[in-house]
Amino acid sequence: VKYVPVPLKTQSYRIDIGPGLLEHSGRRLTAAGFAGKAVVVTNPVVKRRHGPRLRKSLDEAGFNVTWLTVSEGEAFKSLESARRLFEELAGAYIERNTPLLALGGGVVGDLAGFVAATYLRGLPFFQVPTTLLAQVDSSIGGKVAVNLGNMKNMVGAFYQPQGVIADIDTLKTLPPPVFTAGLAEVVKCAFIGDDKFLVYLEDNLEKIRNRDGGALEETVFYTARIKAEIVVQDEKETGVRALLNFGHTIGHAVEAASDFAISHGEAVAMGMMAAGRLSHRLGYLREAELVRLADLIRRAGLPTAIPPLNRERLIEALRHDKKRRAKTLRFVLLNSLGKGFVSEEVTPALIGAILEDSRAP
Ligand SMILES: NC(=O)c1ccc[n+]([C@@H]2O[C@H](COP(=O)([O-])OP(=O)(O)OC[C@H]3O[C@@H](n4cnc5c(N)ncnc54)[C@H](O)[C@@H]3O)[C@@H](O)[C@H]2O)c1
Ligand SMILES: [Zn+2]
Repeated sequence: VKYVPVPLKTQSYRIDIGPGLLEHSGRRLTAAGFAGKAVVVTNPVVKRRHGPRLRKSLDEAGFNVTWLTVSEGEAFKSLESARRLFEELAGAYIERNTPLLALGGGVVGDLAGFVAATYLRGLPFFQVPTTLLAQVDSSIGGKVAVNLGNMKNMVGAFYQPQGVIADIDTLKTLPPPVFTAGLAEVVKCAFIGDDKFLVYLEDNLEKIRNRDGGALEETVFYTARIKAEIVVQDEKETGVRALLNFGHTIGHAVEAASDFAISHGEAVAMGMMAAGRLSHRLGYLREAELVRLADLIRRAGLPTAIPPLNRERLIEALRHDKKRRAKTLRFVLLNSLGKGFVSEEVTPALIGAILEDSRAP
């Protein structure tokens, strides 16, 4: 088991990473000073696969657990779901000191976190992430939200958990595309923040993709540590946290321009490749580094070329990126592999040129 500390001003907590942690979560809650009631928010798929291990552990530690489920899928990360959960919490007489656990991927984590942040002005909250993306990305940093119709994450808060319990055994039941999507965020963190981890990934990608336990633990640990270090420097996303958007400016535009036929992970992979090309074009990344970047994305099972979508639509989507500031595009580039930085020198025209040569042949 490995630990990543997240020493924030508002709240310090720890990310636990390892196998068999669901079996220990009851004791983890007891050690944190909780007893009596607890709430678990999950979805039916995760509940069936991993609920029994958590249930047993919470039962053995003497908790009286209220289980709440939300249907699977991004569409249920909504105010309607939140409202139903509020009513169910009220119906179960849940009080302010009752811990709420989010057992699931980013959808469950964001929704349950939003509910925990607002119900009775805040319940103690624990993230129990069960996807690779949730373990390395969405469970860390305290961003919680629901969507407003098709506008993603429009209503939310910064609300830090009291702990993150990342049981890597849960990753073994992930459908391959869901696992691969998480790998996009893993390689992203290596590109922006850690050249040693990049070498580790290059050496161990096959093991990771085969879900070798040791390799998964190492990978989640390194990635979570990179994200946590960035979040600690910039809790409310006013500065360096923007680095985590590497590949996401173009990625979001690709997602939108494909009407979400292209998944987030694939779109981010394409966006990272394009951002790598921009970094090369502007004289930062060397040719050999660009080749390494492309190789790693491909070996992760992710695409590098943007399919021939309507170019105008893509550029239009870029103009509407919500992270855009005034006239200049804030854009994350790489100085070298393992070193991201925020640039103000990227123009829409330059992106247009890069998108032209990022298309599939
Ligand atoms: N809060 C943040 O900082 C942050 C960061 C990145 C992404 N997000 C959000 O995260 C969400 C995406 O998260 P995600 O990629 O985890 O998607 P997800 O939560 O939809 O999970 C993907 C799929 O995997 C299933 N699943 C989950 N765990 C499983 C397991 N162990 N075994 C088998 N199936 C399992 C789910 O039921 C779902 O169908 C988006 O809503 C996004 O906005 C938030
Ligand atoms: Zn992402």
